[in-house]
Amino acid sequence: IHEQADAVAETIGERAARGVGIDLGDLGAIDDDLLRTIRRIVVVACGTSFHAGLIGRYAIEEWARLPVEVDIASEYRYRNPVVGPGDLVIGISQSGETADTLAAMRTARTRGASVLAVTNIMGSQATRDADGVLYTRAGLEIGVAATKTFVSQVAVMYLLAMRLAELRGTLDPGVLKAAISDLKRLPHAIDEMVEHGLASVERVAERHHKAGFFLYLGRHVGLPVALEGALKLKEISYIATDAYAAGE
Ligand code: F6R
Repeated sequence: IHEQADAVAETIGERAARGVGIDLGDLGAIDDDLLRTIRRIVVVACGTSFHAGLIGRYAIEEWARLPVEVDIASEYRYRNPVVGPGDLVIGISQSGETADTLAAMRTARTRGASVLAVTNIMGSQATRDADGVLYTRAGLEIGVAATKTFVSQVAVMYLLAMRLAELRGTLDPGVLKAAISDLKRLPHAIDEMVEHGLASVERVAERHHKAGFFLYLGRHVGLPVALEGALKLKEISYIATDAYAAGE
């Protein structure tokens, strides 16, 4: 939890240093022409990485005006997905080794889609099964509850959304510039949140730790955050949780 700000700062790093745009570096076969011409994005991932993909969808649709689908990899691989040339499939995996995510990426690649891996681990299998790789730079994730890697994945999806918007001309340059400077302020905002927010989290935990069930509700990006909160609580405390779209 306390390493989140550094992980996000590292992940953004020089990629947003240009000031006027985003530099994602060498993405292998996923070049600027491809990013300019793709018709659809499909995200495949599991668990926490799936939730980061859900947040990425809001950013890509909002800024780059591209349709985005997000699928749980373990379901995607057992369907007969409609995917092929013109699609960019993004496999998000902290470890780069989750079997279901790797299988979903391979299915899409076999059918002619371009595949981008978003991972934290250099040389992992996902990097070998993809046409291009975009790294999070969160350092080693030791905890079961992926936290700094989750926020780093969200940062990478934001960078990608901004780059797509830049290449496709879907954002006014002034708006893009403001979004980039907001992104650069993120590590500081996370630091403030961790420093000042943890005390109130502790108060909530002290008051409610005997509850048998927790329900998380959220709307817009609050929904994936609710899903992720519910996943974190259940995997750490073994208390039953659920998460819903608030409107439901
Ligand atoms: C949650 C958690 C798991 C992973 C999931 C995917 O805290 O650790 O739900 O997110 O197993 O793992 P990666 O991202 O390595 O593919």
